[in-house]
Amino acid sequence: MLNQKSTETSAQDFYAWAASKQTRIEQVLEKVLPCANLAPEKLHSAMRYSALGGGKRVRALLCYAAAELCKTDFLIADAAASAVELIHAYSLVHDDMPCMDDDDLRRGKPSCHKQYDDATALLVGDALQSLAFEVLSQPNLTTIFVQQVGMLHLLAQASGSAGMAGGQAIDLAAVGKPLTQAELETMHQLKTGALIQASVLLGAISGTEAQITAVRTYAAKVGLAFQVIDDILDVEADTSTLGKTAGKDADSNKPTYVTLLGLAQAKLLAQQLYNDAIAALIPFGASAERLRELAGFITQRSF
Ligand code: IPE
Ligand code: IPE
Ligand code: MG
Ligand code: MG
Ligand code: MG
Repeated sequence: MLNQKSTETSAQDFYAWAASKQTRIEQVLEKVLPCANLAPEKLHSAMRYSALGGGKRVRALLCYAAAELCKTDFLIADAAASAVELIHAYSLVHDDMPCMDDDDLRRGKPSCHKQYDDATALLVGDALQSLAFEVLSQPNLTTIFVQQVGMLHLLAQASGSAGMAGGQAIDLAAVGKPLTQAELETMHQLKTGALIQASVLLGAISGTEAQITAVRTYAAKVGLAFQVIDDILDVEADTSTLGKTAGKDADSNKPTYVTLLGLAQAKLLAQQLYNDAIAALIPFGASAERLRELAGFITQRSF
């Protein structure tokens, strides 16, 4: 009984913490995105449409949790969290376009190219990406320029052809082709894992070398787990819960962890990745509780 009560209390703490950080990232993004009435109005309105008011903000939460653990300055954490959410929003806008996954629904609303048009969606992605780097490179963020350049380098690598964009290229080339588990893992690590890993590492930028090594392992495990669960939810969840079209992977003939391993084994793999992520946090003891809770949220989520 006592145990159950303390578990409930800790879950409440986590949800209260997550809600406060979700509010915070929304406010930061609201401030950095150009006003919709500023020319070119259509582009700015579409950028705000795609980046504000939706999403679980998992990447921002990971960044803030790592920042709390590693005592990274909160203004740096704000910049990093908004930068990763902007890159993520851009990746979703492009991912939904007819030349990619051709999805009409995102975060419970028409996808950007449906609400606006293809050319606008293309430019929204371009502009959100540039804005991410603008935010992270702002002149007065820190006087430790080596650290700031390191953060920019980290985000650039995670977003480009050795990261998210590269993973998306592999994803498109893999349609209709069975991949081996190693190939699928590479694809998922790149298209989703890289940005999730960067979210944690950016938050942890002020950590010691030992802390950064430990969170890097944690982040690699939760990054892969995130996409394994995304594959599972595509099969098991419904469109209204997901806010995006369920069953899309099978319809589009995409190789996923579910097609490769089956649902039961895919769930076991997610559990294994969760266990590995938690094991990587052992050196931190209680101070890594938020990162532990986030690993739980990522692997047990229903949307
Ligand atoms: C969806 O990401 C795309 C993937 C990388 C799997 P999220 O599930 O984090 O999407 P939002 O931000 O909550 O909408
Ligand atoms: C998308 O993977 C990964 C990126 C956007 C980089 P998915 O195509 O599976 O994402 P959803 O399911 O459309 O959100
Ligand atoms: Mg896709
Ligand atoms: Mg998609
Ligand atoms: Mg998916």
